[in-house]
Amino acid sequence: MMQDNFPIRKVDHIRHYVGNARQSAYYYQHVFGFNITARHGLETGLRHEVDYLLEQNDVKLLFSAPVKPGHHIAEALAIHGDFVRDIAFEVDDVDWAFNEAVRRGAKPAIEPYSLENEQGYVRIASIHTYGDTLHTFINRDNFTGHFLPGFAEMNEPGEGIGIVEIDHCVGNVELGQMNVWVKWYEDILGFKNLISFDDNDISTEYTALMSKVMASGNGRVKFPINEPAAGKKKSQIDEYLEYFGGAGVQHVALRTDDIVATVSALKARGMQFLRVPKTYYEVLTDRVGEIDEDVEVLAELGILVDRDDEGYLLQIFTKPITDRPTLFYEIIHRKGATSFGKGNFKALFESIEREQELRGTL
Ligand code: FE2
Repeated sequence: MMQDNFPIRKVDHIRHYVGNARQSAYYYQHVFGFNITARHGLETGLRHEVDYLLEQNDVKLLFSAPVKPGHHIAEALAIHGDFVRDIAFEVDDVDWAFNEAVRRGAKPAIEPYSLENEQGYVRIASIHTYGDTLHTFINRDNFTGHFLPGFAEMNEPGEGIGIVEIDHCVGNVELGQMNVWVKWYEDILGFKNLISFDDNDISTEYTALMSKVMASGNGRVKFPINEPAAGKKKSQIDEYLEYFGGAGVQHVALRTDDIVATVSALKARGMQFLRVPKTYYEVLTDRVGEIDEDVEVLAELGILVDRDDEGYLLQIFTKPITDRPTLFYEIIHRKGATSFGKGNFKALFESIEREQELRGTL
């Protein structure tokens, strides 16, 4: 095991900037089954913004919206629409993490500060990464309360669907920028390149992309980074960059231990997924060997399967969850496999291209 030169415990939470946090909270509660557990807004003394915290097992999502004109969140929303603003890390020492990251070349966003109340204090700082995305460092070892001082607890449970943790978060960056950001994660945060995919791995008749998977020192944080590659038509990454207005988070993969139950619940609640042709399932067992699940059930739900040296995985991708063809979710169930579903890329991209065709953006 190589020395971890930038200790990160795990992803603490993902913060979304949205136009209407109350409605986003309702959507994530009623579709994804998150519990609304805390809120900070006008009633708790936050004058220009409202924040909702949603939780399901180890996944924490924070939704922030402006409540007055002229707020910096509103300016960011005018460019990107609703988007992932921040992937926050829990670290041992926020001051060390911030100062060391900046010393190694990171662009500072917010200097270390404390939020405190009678239950103790939480230390926080942020740096910039690709596009308008931040990485916040957070440590609440000296805090006995819930999430952050200032938040009022709420108890509005959702009907959980078995999402247990964030598996990985994928960033889309501009042509020629993938290796720049790969080096950034290596140099600044001590990440390692786990896997690389080139346009031979990920190409169809029309489109291509390149991808490298970066992982933190302890392996718990996994960030694939994509860039477009030259194809006959506009790639899905180009489409994202155009509609998002630059680099940003493309998808977040949520891990479940029962993908059939999770996806069945999402479908019952109206979530739409990318579909692959029926022929995918005719050759599935030949491609991945014996699996525990009933192939007919997987075919009915549109769940994909891939195998690597260590086992297999099941995965499915939602359609974009915003008006813009930008952010979407992956649901992933790992049965030993530590990879990302390379065997499904071609079938998936052909599915995305059918959607792009409908949007007139291919
Ligand atoms: Fe993924």
